[in-house]
Amino acid sequence: MRTVRDIDIRGKRVLVRVDFNVPFDPHTGDIADDSRIRASLPTIDYLLSQGARVILCAHLGRPAGQVVEALRLTPIASRLAQLLGRPVAAQQESVGCNIERAINSLGPSEIAMLENIRFQPGEEKNEPALARDLARLADIFVNDGFGVSHRAHASTVGVARLLPSLAGFVLEKEVSALGHVLHDPGHPFATILGGAKIRDKIGVLDNLLQRVDKLLIGGGMAATFLRAQGIAVGTSGIEADRLDFARDILARAQASGIPVFLPQDVVVAPGPPDPSGATTMAVTDIPDQAAIADIGPVTAKTFINELQGCKTVLWNGPMGIFETEAFSRGTLAIAGALAKLNATTIVGGGSTAEAVMELGLAGKMGHVSTGGGASLEFLEGKSLPGIEVLQS
Ligand code: 3PG
Repeated sequence: MRTVRDIDIRGKRVLVRVDFNVPFDPHTGDIADDSRIRASLPTIDYLLSQGARVILCAHLGRPAGQVVEALRLTPIASRLAQLLGRPVAAQQESVGCNIERAINSLGPSEIAMLENIRFQPGEEKNEPALARDLARLADIFVNDGFGVSHRAHASTVGVARLLPSLAGFVLEKEVSALGHVLHDPGHPFATILGGAKIRDKIGVLDNLLQRVDKLLIGGGMAATFLRAQGIAVGTSGIEADRLDFARDILARAQASGIPVFLPQDVVVAPGPPDPSGATTMAVTDIPDQAAIADIGPVTAKTFINELQGCKTVLWNGPMGIFETEAFSRGTLAIAGALAKLNATTIVGGGSTAEAVMELGLAGKMGHVSTGGGASLEFLEGKSLPGIEVLQS
């Protein structure tokens, strides 16, 4: 992949696809976590320092080809302007004559942001006409939106086919960190998987099983693994259609000599998990009317011991319902241990990234992915269309 360093961009109009799809309250305009915006600052700063005319293209939410007032990008552009310490010309449209005029009046080292590209019906359909309209705005295309690179849209793939296309620093960093996990992890290599459902992690489990030295499983998905071993898990959400898959993973791991650690103890609560009724117990004692809401302290200790001495640790998925204080301790313990570990630590995006951000531990991890679905697909070994197009 060529990156922004590989081309002379002085004075050029550079269209940069970013992933600024941040947790955002449309009623108050509050941005709960601006790390995706911060992540692209090095690319934007670099382009501006080289005298480029920067045109940012982003989406927010899923407006499905319609203008949704609450999903306009003005608040995002304001936050970016604050972070950059310079004005960002927020546009009310994303393509067309007005935009072309506005872009053509940008001077070197000036920056504009197009309106939410998903207001365009052609975006998600990767319509050639929209890709052409976007390409007319620029001389060079840069993909810095790793989190949206699993989508073959007009602003990720269509336009990249029409302009000289480069990777930004976010993309470069993600591909290098996640690629390291897949292709040359330091051993021992442990993977910790959690989150609500096995179904979201099937591809990752399949792809990583052949690469890891140990597998640690917590979160809601552990319930299905426990059930697959014949353990009664009360009212915990079981994925009945994944029991065979869970058994198969356990059998394959055993056949390959890869230890799989499941919770020994859990925090349970009457379901839907009510924190006032939270109790910790062995997994073999879960009552009929309670659901697993977190891993217990014995499990957290075992997991942390197993991480000692590992050279690479990948973590994807919280250990419990970490948004609720009573069920956050397992996630907290794992995050704290990873922050102290002398290893390459890689945290998958989405809710795991949110957890480490919230705990203020992101800076202590080797890499925290900006991608949710994109990082999962990458770890599944799939080729992401927004990256593939840069390599062709
Ligand atoms: C994300 O938030 O994971 C990316 O911005 C992609 O968003 P999408 O799932 O709506 O395509």
